[in-house]
Amino acid sequence: MLALYFFLATLVSYVAAQSNAETSCNPLKTTCPPDPALSTEHTFWFNETLDDTLWNMTSGSLDYTSEGAQFTLNEEGDSLLLMSNFYIFFGVMEVHAKMATGNGIISGVILESDDLDEIDWEWVGSNTTGVQSDFFGKGNTTTWNRGAKHNAANANLDFHNYTTYWDQEKLQWWVDGDMVRQVNYSERLTVYGQNYPQTPCRVKASLWPSGVEGESPGTIKWGGGMVDWSQAPFTMTIQRIRVEDFSSGKEYQYDGTSGSFHSINVIGGNSTAEDRIAHPPESLSEKWDDLPEGAHIGVYCGAAAAGALVVVAVGLYCLKQRRRGRLEHALDDARYNTERNEMETYQNDWKQTEWSSTSIRHNGYQAM
Ligand SMILES: *[C@@H]1O[C@H](CO)[C@@H](O)[C@H](O)[C@H]1NC(C)=O
Ligand SMILES: *[C@@H]1O[C@H](CO)[C@@H](O)[C@H](O)[C@H]1NC(C)=O
Ligand SMILES: *[C@@H]1O[C@H](CO)[C@@H](O)[C@H](O)[C@H]1NC(C)=O
Ligand SMILES: *[C@@H]1O[C@H](CO)[C@@H](O)[C@H](O)[C@H]1NC(C)=O
Ligand SMILES: *[C@@H]1O[C@H](CO)[C@@H](O)[C@H](O)[C@H]1NC(C)=O
Ligand SMILES: *[C@@H]1O[C@H](CO)[C@@H](O)[C@H](O)[C@H]1NC(C)=O
Ligand SMILES: *[C@@H]1O[C@H](CO)[C@@H](O)[C@H](O)[C@H]1NC(C)=O
Repeated sequence: MLALYFFLATLVSYVAAQSNAETSCNPLKTTCPPDPALSTEHTFWFNETLDDTLWNMTSGSLDYTSEGAQFTLNEEGDSLLLMSNFYIFFGVMEVHAKMATGNGIISGVILESDDLDEIDWEWVGSNTTGVQSDFFGKGNTTTWNRGAKHNAANANLDFHNYTTYWDQEKLQWWVDGDMVRQVNYSERLTVYGQNYPQTPCRVKASLWPSGVEGESPGTIKWGGGMVDWSQAPFTMTIQRIRVEDFSSGKEYQYDGTSGSFHSINVIGGNSTAEDRIAHPPESLSEKWDDLPEGAHIGVYCGAAAAGALVVVAVGLYCLKQRRRGRLEHALDDARYNTERNEMETYQNDWKQTEWSSTSIRHNGYQAM
């Protein structure tokens, strides 16, 4: 029984590291640009289109419904990944979600840093009454003993509150207001702090198949076997995610390659994400409504002034045209007189020849 427990515990954490084999820039290996800070607290509702300056759907697309955003796998080869463009340097992530069901289907919402510290919620699609917690430090996958399982009834049908609390001393996982797990900074599991998650993390939400060829046997078993694609679609729904950053500033920058929280510099200034949240983009009519009355009057006056200018310009144009009209009329008179004279001359010529010539000329005239 104990052996079985350890076997299962070993299987538990297979996945996370699989999806996280790399980040765009690992600060323990090279110099990376600083991480943009969230620097505030905000609840993102997933029933409306996410702001793509704050979130990036790097794989697949979301379907927005009144109860939240659906992540759906329709066929083999699909996988979905959403990540925040902002980072938190210790804080809280509160996820309200419904897991996807199906053997080999993994729903996940995690915090992950550029040097592969990680704090996970994962739902294995073959078990709809549970959720798994896990963590990694600096991408260390030497052992697979950090995962744990927790109860969550009808996790595929009901939204539960899955909250991660993370500070310099402790890491906690809460389900619907109950703390189900705590890991301390310094204990055996964290290699006494060395592998405790402690660098700025972004939020990542994913839905992916573990039960496909190419995955390791351990991962396939952990995920409940091979995916039966005839059961597709497989859908996870996120209703909302509240994210709170315990640090505040513009950016978080690694200083050196220790990966310790002592090495993270908080660069002061205004957070772009915080500014964006405080001043979201608006539609044109909302912008108009939001303008103070004085601005409305200003715009009306401006429009009236512009209108007046147009009236004046049109007036001047007409005056000019009338003057030119008179001139042209005079010219026309002259031309008319000339033409009339020519015509009269011609007619006179014609009349004179008509009488003296043949009817050919007359026919020719008719044909003209
Ligand atoms: C999304 O849900 C929130 C909270 O219930 C609500 O305030 C908001 O109006 C909803 N948005 C849409 C587009 O339904
Ligand atoms: C979104 O993610 C893709 C893939 O990682 C990346 O190429 C792109 O630059 C990201 N966009 C933003 C706005 O960060
Ligand atoms: C599902 O997970 C819960 C929580 O870990 C566990 O108690 C339960 O036995 C699991 N059910 C099955 C069928 O494995
Ligand atoms: C990785 O973890 C193992 C055990 O969990 C530990 O013995 C080892 O020192 C760690 N390696 C690093 C580089 O942190
Ligand atoms: C979700 O759970 C956390 C941790 O217990 C709690 O602080 C938070 O208020 C809960 N959220 C809601 C909406 O109840
Ligand atoms: C973590 O610290 C708390 C006190 O803050 C203690 O009660 C608990 O036993 C510690 N856990 C471990 C695994 O050391
Ligand atoms: C930061 O934001 C505050 C308040 O919105 C503003 O007064 C200040 O000018 C901003 N600073 C910079 C450097 O943009």
